[in-house]
Amino acid sequence: MHPDVDSILISEEQIKKRIQELAVKLDKEYEGKRPLMVSILKGSVMFYADLLRAMSIPVEMDFMAISSYGAGAKSSGEVKLIKDLDRKIEGRDVVIVEDIIDSGYTLSYLKRMLYSRKPASVKICALLDKYARRVVPIEADFKGFDIEDEFVIGYGLDYAERYRNLPYIGILKRSVYEK
Ligand code: PRP
Repeated sequence: MHPDVDSILISEEQIKKRIQELAVKLDKEYEGKRPLMVSILKGSVMFYADLLRAMSIPVEMDFMAISSYGAGAKSSGEVKLIKDLDRKIEGRDVVIVEDIIDSGYTLSYLKRMLYSRKPASVKICALLDKYARRVVPIEADFKGFDIEDEFVIGYGLDYAERYRNLPYIGILKRSVYEK
């Protein structure tokens, strides 16, 4: 285990098993269709890559990046688009793939923006749901795990851009961020 990790919250095996289950659900939901799977950079990359490989139906890939207006601004709900999709989504079934829903600002902004482009549907697939932190009412249509309000890192999730490549989801030691 990484020395900055207090404990492992979700192991590699648990992530793998849950992704398999989510992939079965997605395959069923979009059977006969070709959903556009949208990864929200950067946190969702690990989850996205594993989820898509676990799915059997044909899918298309695209990426978006969002940023908050500087440190702390996220709590005000201000988000900004920094990389848009490459293609039009009119009439398409879109699945937004996220690593975590926290306040819900990112996803409510994204969902609103994507819906304005007249897709056939927009659904959310999130690996983690930190419901205790929710500010705006938004729910995942496909969800991996509910988690408590802990500082989680790994499997895409960072603290100051570190720890994203840990293969599990861990709880960060307080001593790392309380200095
Ligand atoms: C994280 C995460 C979600 C968002 C969730 O991204 O990947 O996009 O925050 O938080 P919210 O529900 O409060 O909006 P972050 O801005 O940390 O960027 P990253 O994915 O590059 O780590």
